[in-house]
Amino acid sequence: MQRSLILLKPDCVQRRLIGEVLSRFEAKGLQIVGLKMLQVTPELSKQHYAEHVEKPFYQSLEDFITAAPVVAIALEGLEAITVIRDMLGATNGLKAAPGTLRGDFSSSRQMNLVHASDSPESAERELGLYFRPEEFCEYSMNL
Ligand code: CMP
Repeated sequence: MQRSLILLKPDCVQRRLIGEVLSRFEAKGLQIVGLKMLQVTPELSKQHYAEHVEKPFYQSLEDFITAAPVVAIALEGLEAITVIRDMLGATNGLKAAPGTLRGDFSSSRQMNLVHASDSPESAERELGLYFRPEEFCEYSMNL
């Protein structure tokens, strides 16, 4: 089992696509173990996107990610990190394959709808930025 941190970005929230995206993850059989809506602050943006802070596009990325609420989701499943990245498609919506979330709903490199952790190490770090340990839920029913 793996956990991944998913962010439904401001473009996803503002375009009222939360349900559409969540239903795809649910249909795939991924389990929601954490879910919250929040406004990303400039400080949180710098922590989340630490590897991009020095890049030329960072300020524009921060302006975008702080512009409207996001939905943070902890998703669990077998090989969840790769499965979810495959469901998202390429970073640039213009390049993402049809059938992927970005391929179907985004035409932008920056406003690409959804963020997902790219490795188990990133997932652990990113989940810790958005959730306290006691906020993760457990399921004991087998449905
Ligand atoms: P994400 O998967 O959240 O990881 C980093 C984000 O930076 C990426 O999605 C895009 O939203 C954004 N991004 C990546 N490359 C560029 C770029 N060249 N110009 C603008 N934004 C970018």
